[in-house]
Amino acid sequence: MTRSLRPWRERVAETAREMAARGLVRGSSGNVSVRVDDAVLITPTHIPYRYLQARQVVAIDLGGKALSGSGRPSSEWRLHVAIYRARPDVRAIVHAHSPYATAVAVSLPELPVAHDEGGLLFGRAIPVARHAPPGTWDLAHAAVAALGGGNAVLLARHGTVAVGLTLRQALALAEKLEETAQLFFSSRFLG
Ligand code: 13P
Repeated sequence: MTRSLRPWRERVAETAREMAARGLVRGSSGNVSVRVDDAVLITPTHIPYRYLQARQVVAIDLGGKALSGSGRPSSEWRLHVAIYRARPDVRAIVHAHSPYATAVAVSLPELPVAHDEGGLLFGRAIPVARHAPPGTWDLAHAAVAALGGGNAVLLARHGTVAVGLTLRQALALAEKLEETAQLFFSSRFLG
């Protein structure tokens, strides 16, 4: 039986607004999705989160074909569907541009994890995927390869991706990823 997508649209919009409220993105940058059976509910492109309404969240299939919703899907829909196709265990994705983690993605090949809690969540380091232009299959494939079986990856010169079983979990990991990057910077500064 096909589940009603309406509550999921609300949850995606709420997660996207929360992502902005927590300072992980500004304006309309970043994007959020959830997988419901064979549909992906994803934030629309170019809508600032403070104006985002649930009905604008777009449903697409795993090939990217629009199913319903009044907006146009995020330009990063390929990144989202590529991860869902490669990782059936992943049910939610948060792509952010949080500043410390993105700075690492500009400058380093990986984000070393410097504190114990980060180690439990992410392991020794969070990888940076090779650079590819935003919105392309090349970026999607690079991200999938670097993510492997993990729960976070950085996109070179671009931003962050956190994946989880739920929207809440993916958002919490996106926030922990930014905290991990902040701690890495601070600990480097202190020596
Ligand atoms: P969209 O508004 O198309 O989701 O793009 C934002 C973004 O961050 C692209 O990486």
